[in-house]
Amino acid sequence: MEIIIQPTYAQLVAVSAEIIRDALLKKPNLVLGLATGSTPIGLYEALARMHKTDGLDFSKVTTFNLDEYVGIPPNHPYSYHTFMETYFFNAVNIPPENCHIPQSTAVGHEGFCERYEAAIVNAGGIDIQVLGVGKDGHIGFNEPSSSLGSRTRIKTLTQSTLEANAPHFGGTVEAVPKMAITMGVGTIMEAKQCLLLASGVSKAEAIAHAVEGPITAEVPASVLQMHPRTIAVIDDGAASQLKRVDYYKQVYANKQKLLSQEH
Ligand code: GLP
Repeated sequence: MEIIIQPTYAQLVAVSAEIIRDALLKKPNLVLGLATGSTPIGLYEALARMHKTDGLDFSKVTTFNLDEYVGIPPNHPYSYHTFMETYFFNAVNIPPENCHIPQSTAVGHEGFCERYEAAIVNAGGIDIQVLGVGKDGHIGFNEPSSSLGSRTRIKTLTQSTLEANAPHFGGTVEAVPKMAITMGVGTIMEAKQCLLLASGVSKAEAIAHAVEGPITAEVPASVLQMHPRTIAVIDDGAASQLKRVDYYKQVYANKQKLLSQEH
């Protein structure tokens, strides 16, 4: 895993937005896997600015979101449908028919999950999967103990995730939907590249387990150690429990030096 440690969230955002911009300039019909949560908001805002001010073109892009709560309508203020419209889709020119988000009802979910997986394959697979990480190490809504080979399906959320998301639902755990449809860990692992983002000390333990701990279903993000092309862009806070911070910084500095010599 390539670890890029930046001093601040703003710099984390700048680096990750550049990675996506460069990929989009190389491949206009990029297939993006997208995440929700507070962490990628800055990235979406940066990409929206690049669209508005530099004309970065998203007209051939296709997107697949990781997950959606089950049991709230898509137009609920805290659904991931609403989140994506608010922070990204309304601000760039991705054709609405190219934007895919899991459905928010359990009705017919098995058929839906199969079609979602097939749609990803039909689009040519995900080029870059943006990921956040839960405090307990989950990716998407693949909670600890999720099969590392799992596919898109319904998951029951853990108490830790319900508590983390309660502020979005009026502050009460009872109001948070108890289940979600999420891409599986196996689905995520098929993305050609993963871009894992984490900011702040509250993510430090999850990042330490994911990057330097054993690969285990107890920490679903740890499976990314097996992914051939994962870049983790994290800030100093999220890096604060890593053992090899100096080495990761050295690796990144050397890579930047090499790249500047090539250009
Ligand atoms: C939710 C989402 C995840 C996200 C996580 C962390 O559980 N399903 O995809 O990574 O929240 O969110 P935040 O970035 O707000 O900490």
